[in-house]
Amino acid sequence: MTAKIIDGKALAETLRAELAEKAAALKATQGITPCLAVILVGEDPASAVYVKNKVAACEKAGFRSIKETYPANVEPMVVLGKIAALNADPSVHGILVQLPLPKQFDAEAVLEAISPEKDVDGFHVENVGALMQGNPRFVPCTPYGVMQMLKTENVPLKGAEAVIVGRSNIVGKPMAMLLLAESCTVTICHSRTKDLAFHTRRADILVAAVGQPKMITGDMIKPGATVIDVGINRTPEGKLCGDVDFESAKEVAGLITPVPGGVGPMTITMLLANTLEAAERTLG
Ligand code: GUN
Repeated sequence: MTAKIIDGKALAETLRAELAEKAAALKATQGITPCLAVILVGEDPASAVYVKNKVAACEKAGFRSIKETYPANVEPMVVLGKIAALNADPSVHGILVQLPLPKQFDAEAVLEAISPEKDVDGFHVENVGALMQGNPRFVPCTPYGVMQMLKTENVPLKGAEAVIVGRSNIVGKPMAMLLLAESCTVTICHSRTKDLAFHTRRADILVAAVGQPKMITGDMIKPGATVIDVGINRTPEGKLCGDVDFESAKEVAGLITPVPGGVGPMTITMLLANTLEAAERTLG
């Protein structure tokens, strides 16, 4: 059996076209242009690429964007001051601080400084709590994108065994909350899990978000399972690859996301969706 490939790039393009239309309508009817402010601190090349892509996606969808960049040795107070100014600016609807931050920063304090109403990443503790209670305000973009993919593909969720490999605040934990809200039976595995394959082989839905190249191999997958690969890694030859060994996994899975062209394009799409939502909410 060869799995059906979930085309995240195509789905992202469809959704971005819809978001662009909605943004144009908001501008035409209310005079509001959705605006995202992105803060980048330091010279991490991967972060620089992500930020560039976020800004470009805004421009393409007719959103306004503000990009603030700071050197790695900037005083945290400077960044906190900028966040306060963006919080107070009614023309700014979403604020995002690209992670990771340099060592002198207390990342949690920075995330808590963003107004929860503008926290389009969904990382503010108030928004994390709302998600946990099943009443989300902003859903973190990567897990939000994964849920869109599962729903578009009509993957049965109720009662499904969902196994997530990875327990990060950005992906693993919110992913678990979203799948739980859809009545999946959720297992979170991590670096200390004793028999990872025991768990992954039980999964109807397997989400890999560990940052380990090709760690999930075909023999760890239940035949017919839906396999979602959140990993973005580089092989020693410099090629992009996921956390799933695509070649062996696609022979066993029923549905699978590729890397690149799977979850990646969906993350920025959901960032646009959250920014539009934040702009619409200002109307009350
Ligand atoms: N770094 C890696 N992923 C993300 C993300 O989704 N948002 C932010 N702000 N930083 C990240």
